[in-house]
Amino acid sequence: MSEAYKKMVQKKHILHSSIFNQTMRDWHSLKTEITPKNLMYPVFIIEAENELQEIPSMPGVARYGINKLKEYLTPLVQKGLTSVLVFGVISSLSKDESATNADSPNNPVVQALPLLRKWFPNLTIACDVCLCPYSSHGHCGILTDKGHIDNARSIKRIAEISLAYAKAGAHIIAPSDMMDGRIGAIKSILIENDLQNTVSVLSYTCKFASSFYGPFRDAAKSAPASGDRKCYQLPPGGAGVALRAAERDVEEGADFLMVKPIMAYMDILKQVKDKYPEYPMFVYQVSGEYSMIYGAAQKGVFDLKTALMEILGSYRRAGADVIITYYTPLVLDWIALKHKL
Ligand code: PBG
Ligand code: ZN
Repeated sequence: MSEAYKKMVQKKHILHSSIFNQTMRDWHSLKTEITPKNLMYPVFIIEAENELQEIPSMPGVARYGINKLKEYLTPLVQKGLTSVLVFGVISSLSKDESATNADSPNNPVVQALPLLRKWFPNLTIACDVCLCPYSSHGHCGILTDKGHIDNARSIKRIAEISLAYAKAGAHIIAPSDMMDGRIGAIKSILIENDLQNTVSVLSYTCKFASSFYGPFRDAAKSAPASGDRKCYQLPPGGAGVALRAAERDVEEGADFLMVKPIMAYMDILKQVKDKYPEYPMFVYQVSGEYSMIYGAAQKGVFDLKTALMEILGSYRRAGADVIITYYTPLVLDWIALKHKL
């Protein structure tokens, strides 16, 4: 080493000394670790109890009848799965203007909840609440004759459906509809029914009108029959209106907040977390993000595991407490491997 270098080098600018082995590298990264507690797994439940339907636009993801779901979830729970986000998908039940089958006794989620609670007593179950998988028009609210959102009727209906899921056993109500005032309406109906202490509300707070939901709309059979969702989901450029949405949902009593999708909205995550550090932040790595990463790995752009852990770690670094991801089963396997000596 040259004398000139020894003179010139600033001690605190030597970074290599603090990252030269894995233990040290881990010390820098503890806040970005992924444990099973940081993961929530989205699952699609169908009416046919013994069926499993693969979803071509989401390789590795399927819709399950309740008996198949039991088989599928059992080993995941053993590997440490702590929470799921449940979606219902119907094909024989009818769809109508007001999404009657969202909370009818035949709804696959209503039927599955008591069973999931019995089979997996330590699993925390969140239910997505929306009209789009059950409405004839495929929109997330009730429409007026002119085809606009009827907000008052929409949130009344969203609250009713939430109550049905809460009564059937949901721990968490997760409304994804983006109607104004839905968090307050859900909280009120929970209080009226004395469920306020045992059911929480995870708001899809900053949900953007995104091009990354395509594969999900196949999976949930929930694409709008006409038009788009730009009048109720947030505009992708709208950081200001996203912060207003967070402020509103906090004031209406949301227990947990979410940013969705995440990859193109990490600045929103950081801003909401910085503004409301006392709220656990959820991020939803949505269907398009899942399939995009999967496709890139298949094309040899990167190694799936290395890239995915880098991506998920970046969500933790930006402020995510819980990541909702279709990759949960894979990640649980990787975590288990890492801890097996
Ligand atoms: C429906 C809903 C959507 C998602 C969750 N709930 C799609 C949409 O708003 O069109 C997206 C999930 C995903 O893409 O993985 N309200
Ligand atoms: Zn919807």
